[in-house]
Amino acid sequence: ARGLIEQAKRLAARRAVDDHIKDGQIVGIGSGSTVVYVAQRLAERVKEEGLNVTCIPTSFQAKNLIIDNNLALSDLDVHSKIDVTIDGCDECDADLNLIKGGGGCLLQEKIVAAASDKLIIVADYTKDSVYLGEQWKKGIPLEISSIGWKVVERKLNDLSIAWGSKTGLASVRMAIKKMGPVVTDNSNFIIDFNIGDLEEELRLKLPPKEIEVQLKSIPGILETGLFVKMAKQVYFGQNDGSVKTRA
Ligand code: A5P
Repeated sequence: ARGLIEQAKRLAARRAVDDHIKDGQIVGIGSGSTVVYVAQRLAERVKEEGLNVTCIPTSFQAKNLIIDNNLALSDLDVHSKIDVTIDGCDECDADLNLIKGGGGCLLQEKIVAAASDKLIIVADYTKDSVYLGEQWKKGIPLEISSIGWKVVERKLNDLSIAWGSKTGLASVRMAIKKMGPVVTDNSNFIIDFNIGDLEEELRLKLPPKEIEVQLKSIPGILETGLFVKMAKQVYFGQNDGSVKTRA
């Protein structure tokens, strides 16, 4: 399955680049393992057809991808308007709402996405869901200020109870080989906010937009990994070598 998933990511990335990237564009480069293939395909097209694009990173990782693939690097201070951003996701629902931030880069990713005329998502078939949380069980990643993280954690736990969740849990993401929290590219913490498997009735009362609004009203939450109605088109690489798209 691992090989099939890798192939699916690669195919989705290549198709998205070939369908959307044109000469002279300012291109946002997302983060994660799927976007590695986006940078590779862009580099191929620079070599093969002399494609000229300027790339804006969404993370430390993306910046290095741009540099390592010899692509032209710029930033949001130079280009506050981006033509197309291609990024990955952790899950995508039937309405093209996304969960992002599994890799911890959501704040910068969302700013770049908001600066873009088009946000194009590349993913493998395991991320294709009807509703958010159907397959992604780690919760909604939230980038939070390190100051007062316990306050935010408590407020979120209160919120999930108010929402009717029986198993809701908010917890600061911890580093793996260091005793302490994950620190983002912007020196913030991440909370994974798991509201658990809500019953359908509750879920329908809490569409992603509503969750987003309530989360953004909590002081200390800098950004959420919910990307509501931001994506224009999603490419899902399939396990049979084809690519399915949703727009
Ligand atoms: C990074 O924080 C995330 O938002 C990524 O976009 C997401 O995790 C996708 O990464 P993969 O392509 O590695 O699954």
